[in-house]
Parts: sequence; C-alpha cells; structure tokens
Amino acid sequence: MAKIRRRGVAIVESKKGILVVSTNGKKFMLPGGGAKIFESRKKAAIRELYEETGLKIKSIKYFFSYVGKKWHNHRRKLIKNNTKVFLVAEHGEKVIGTASIELEKWRRNHFGKFGIAIIDGYRGMGLGKYLMSEIIKLARKELKPRPKMIQLEVYVNNKIAIKFYNKMGFKTVAKVPRQIQYKGKLIDEFIMILYI
Ligand SMILES: CC(C)(COP(=O)(O)OP(=O)(O)OC[C@H]1O[C@@H](n2cnc3c(N)ncnc32)[C@H](O)[C@@H]1OP(=O)(O)O)[C@@H](O)C(=O)NCCC(=O)NCCS
Repeated sequence: MAKIRRRGVAIVESKKGILVVSTNGKKFMLPGGGAKIFESRKKAAIRELYEETGLKIKSIKYFFSYVGKKWHNHRRKLIKNNTKVFLVAEHGEKVIGTASIELEKWRRNHFGKFGIAIIDGYRGMGLGKYLMSEIIKLARKELKPRPKMIQLEVYVNNKIAIKFYNKMGFKTVAKVPRQIQYKGKLIDEFIMILYI
C-alpha cells in the first residue's frame, strides 16, 4: 500500500517574529512533526506545538498544505498531483479512511498502485466502496498519463479485503510466495489488477 508521511506544522506569529524551535541552538525550524496514525494534521500541529514549546492553542486557522508536488490552498482544494491522488474521509476531526492511487514510473507509468484503509468501527458500511469509486474517478481526471489499470498487493490471509477487491472487480493475476513477515511466519501475497 502506498504510504504517505503526514506532518502538522504550526506558524505562530508574535511581535518578535515567527516562532521557531531548535534542539541544538544551531538548526531552527517551525514547531511541528509527524501525525500519528489516524490523527489529523491539525491535531498533530496542536500536539507538537505543546510538546515542543508548552504553548496551548486558543485559536487556529488552516493556512496551507503541501502534498506530493502540489500545494493546497486555504479552502482545502483537492490535492492536485500528476502522479498521485489521495483521498481522506473524515468524521468530525477524525480521519476514518484513506484511499490513494500512485502512478508507477517510466515504462510502468500506464498503471497506478492502489491503497485503501478504513478504520475499525467504520467498516462494512459502504465507505470502502465509495472511496474506491471516487479515487478512480479522480485518477482518471488528474493523473498524467491517465492510468489504464490499477494494481495492489494483498496478504492471502486478508479474506475480507480480497472479498472486497473481488466485489469491486479486481482480478488476481499472481501469487507471490513468502512476501510478508507476519507473526513469525512468511505470508504469500496476491497481486490483483483492475482495468479502469
Ligand atoms: C477492505 C476494506 C477497505 C473494505 O472497506 P469497507 O468500507 O469495510 O467495505 P464496504 O462496506 O464498502 O463493502 C464493500 C464490499 O466489500 C465486501 N466486504 C466488506 N466487508 C466485508 C466483510 N466483513 N466480510 C465479507 N465481505 C466484506 C462486501 O462484498 C461488500 O459489498 P456488500 O456490502 O454489497 O456485500 C476495509 O475492511 C479495511 O480497511 N480493512 C482493513 C485494511 C485493509 O485490509 N486494507 C487492504 C489492504 S491490501
């Protein structure tokens, strides 16, 4: 599954200027850090600011974000990146699901790697199906070149995901032995593809 590193960074303006932090007195940076799994970037910025400076947020405003090679404006306009599309489903402040398609490179750039995850408690209610159809629409519209198919790898013992992918039209094209270390065992993986 495609992995994305999410960071939340706080810009704190004071009379003396923009607040920066340092661990060694030589290198200075904006307070912030990596978001924990299922923590929003906003929450990460608030937590990191407190951990690094002791400052507590009274009010906060979304400014901009940078994903892949593109910036998002303050209206949270869609991620625009020629090689990757990424969708986040939120319930209130909580991230409850993600889906992504990232184009492969060079002679493989006719297909994209697909990834999806819905958090426990939000599964089995159609969110996976919805995110998948939306991310495919987005990939067709935004990715250059437009992908002809999407591909994924799934553990052979992930019965629910396999059922989900089959239902969504994916076909298993290969089984790769001993790909994943899982609870002291080596697990095989299926490679599945869907023409889009
Ligand atoms: C796999 C996953 C993305 C499915 O998302 P979801 O939102 O739970 O799925 P949906 O509710 O949209 O269900 C769509 C179809 O998937 C299948 N499905 C979903 N949950 C299922 C379950 N518990 N048992 C059997 N089939 C299931 C069904 O065919 C369902 O269609 P139906 O409702 O018409 O029967 C989700 O379970 C998940 O994130 N799992 C953990 C992470 C993971 O395994 N990711 C894949 C790694 S390769």
